[in-house]
Amino acid sequence: MKTFILGIESSCDDTSAAVICNDMILSNVTAGQDVHKNFGGVVPELASRAHQQNIIPVIETAIQKANIRKNQLSAVAFTRGPGLLGSLLVGTSFAKAFALGLNIPLIEVDHLQAHILSHFIRNSESTNPVPRFPFICLTVSGGHTQIVLIRDYFDMEVIGQTIDDAAGEAFDKSAKIMGLPYPGGPLIDKLAAGGDPRRFAFARPNIPGLDFSFSGLKTSFLYFLRDELKRDPAFIENNKPDLCASIQSTIIDILMAKLTLALEQTRLLHSRSQLPDVAIAGGVSANSGLRQALEDAKVRLGWNIFIPPLQYSTDNAAMIAVAGYFKFLKSEFGSQSSVPYARNVL
Ligand code: KG4
Ligand code: ZN
Repeated sequence: MKTFILGIESSCDDTSAAVICNDMILSNVTAGQDVHKNFGGVVPELASRAHQQNIIPVIETAIQKANIRKNQLSAVAFTRGPGLLGSLLVGTSFAKAFALGLNIPLIEVDHLQAHILSHFIRNSESTNPVPRFPFICLTVSGGHTQIVLIRDYFDMEVIGQTIDDAAGEAFDKSAKIMGLPYPGGPLIDKLAAGGDPRRFAFARPNIPGLDFSFSGLKTSFLYFLRDELKRDPAFIENNKPDLCASIQSTIIDILMAKLTLALEQTRLLHSRSQLPDVAIAGGVSANSGLRQALEDAKVRLGWNIFIPPLQYSTDNAAMIAVAGYFKFLKSEFGSQSSVPYARNVL
């Protein structure tokens, strides 16, 4: 049977809509918001307004591109949280009205679960491999950094997470310190390609277990630059690629060290001789250095790795639609009185 689901994502500063036929993606349309560039970060009030302006054209385009009629849709899946409340309310309210108008069910999706489930999106009739349960996912975005043990589509356990800044924040704040515009992560990635990752060394956190901390790294970077700028006011300008490569490789080393530890621990936990599959997800999984580090671990350590295509790394509605499809199969529907949540509930 063919089940068509409309997915809607509006948790932060991307308005996105996608149509899926079972787990096969038909369209995925995203409108970004340039309005935040001048402010060095996402301004919640401006984000909600931009979602209001973008949501109808984005949804119309997604349905058009999918080449289906609205009344073929079986359900509407939307991001219920976590995220900015004003932004979430736009997608939630639209989804409710749309479902009511078409008399179809609503499906609530958790944004972080959806990032992980993006690995199950199929792109064409050819079958791309998907991770086998149980697997480990490093979810790294602008708001979250987690190591998650996934036993089933919706049976997920967070086994490690950041105690302060997220990995994406570490990229964005370091970029801001260097005077780069928001979001700085992709820019650091680009500039790092021409730099020496071993030129500068920064403080690494000493946090036990599988948890992360990035706030000390940000401070170490800030103080290092403050001292160097006293000696040479053009220090940042003269060393940008090396600074970007060094800060990027430090962030990646911190992430990879914990991911390696997680694999050692879960192997013990399950007393399996075989390693679980390893995935990355979220905006920072678009980082070329992190992708390469995973490829290296595949060769060196024999990890069976899963790296999402770039369009499913950063925020997108395709992942909401696929998560919606798996909930549809279980008849797990939301209600018209559903309320968005700002904080992580995983
Ligand atoms: O998942 P996402 O699109 O939104 C959230 O749920 O937060 O992640 C956005 C984050 C931002 O911090 C952005 O700088 C970072 O992902 N990011 C990157 C790259 N592309 C996006 N960080 C490093 N390298 C990249 N190529
Ligand atoms: Zn995200």
